[in-house]
Amino acid sequence: MPSFISPISGFVQHSTSSIPPSLRPHTMMAPLLRARSMYKVALPRAACRFHTKPQSVNLSKFGKYPTKMLTQPEEFPLSVWAPVATVPGCNPDSPEKRSVRLLGAKQLKIRPQDVQFFTAVNKKVRAWMYQDHFDPSHDYEHIMRVVKNASVIVERTERENPALVSSWDRTIIYVGCLMHDVGDGKYIKKGEDGVKIQEDLLMECGASPEYARRIQTIATHVSFTGESKNPKRLKEIIQQYPELAVVQDADRLDAIGAIGTGRCFTYGGAGTVRRQQTINRAVQMLDQRFKYYVDWMKTDVGREMAQRRWEFMLLFRDQYVEETDASAVVAQEDDENEKS
Ligand SMILES: [Fe+2]
Repeated sequence: MPSFISPISGFVQHSTSSIPPSLRPHTMMAPLLRARSMYKVALPRAACRFHTKPQSVNLSKFGKYPTKMLTQPEEFPLSVWAPVATVPGCNPDSPEKRSVRLLGAKQLKIRPQDVQFFTAVNKKVRAWMYQDHFDPSHDYEHIMRVVKNASVIVERTERENPALVSSWDRTIIYVGCLMHDVGDGKYIKKGEDGVKIQEDLLMECGASPEYARRIQTIATHVSFTGESKNPKRLKEIIQQYPELAVVQDADRLDAIGAIGTGRCFTYGGAGTVRRQQTINRAVQMLDQRFKYYVDWMKTDVGREMAQRRWEFMLLFRDQYVEETDASAVVAQEDDENEKS
């Protein structure tokens, strides 16, 4: 698929011992990758979201590419360049600790009659996602980001296509986001039923059996694996429950881009199988799974957001391949060292 080929290198290929190190593609492309990463990708994207005074930044700390001084665009945030004291979205009082804050019903424009139900689910999900058998790749902060992604999709779609959003129930979207990992088969214990866990939790918070079933159906069908096994069935469910499109896109957005890359490594390190494998396993996931995400997005806004995040992942992969290529110092199979 052409759109998935790196716009910089157009390839991902490990160096071979027959090519001198100085002529290997990754070595030759390194300056361009760095320059693009700093100027053409990071700057405009970040700049459009912040409003601060112009700053002059010394880029020499990044090595010899580049060595000149760069004047930031007017809206460029200093925080991108400065050491990060507080990670936006995390616990602002203690970034290294778990978030203690809850998602806000007011911020999400939850209908007054749904606030009590939303808040009850919100509190239960936070407690659920911070159980010991979960890890930082799937926790309440993941839920927060998924809800945030959903709210971006909802708000932007409302401006561009209000008729479409009028057919969505915001409470179902946001509670669906809250619930989507509660019954996740990767984390439930042996013998537990994910569907029952979800429905019980929702009914304990005041949902009728019918309403609980509706949200549970959405939450259960967020799964990428489920869709890849039966895409036709997934389409039918989205026709019946259109909110699923938003919840699914919102969750998949958190699996790609910078945060998705971080989560992929985290999940691998926490899992009993992958932690016995090479660290490269996380990067292989790009080709085995994440490259499908842009095309599989169900909303226009989600697709646009996914495209930007996927481009970042391709840049990351190019850099990763360059940094991890140890072929120049690895003995060949028939090397004298092997024989001795
Ligand atoms: Fe998730």
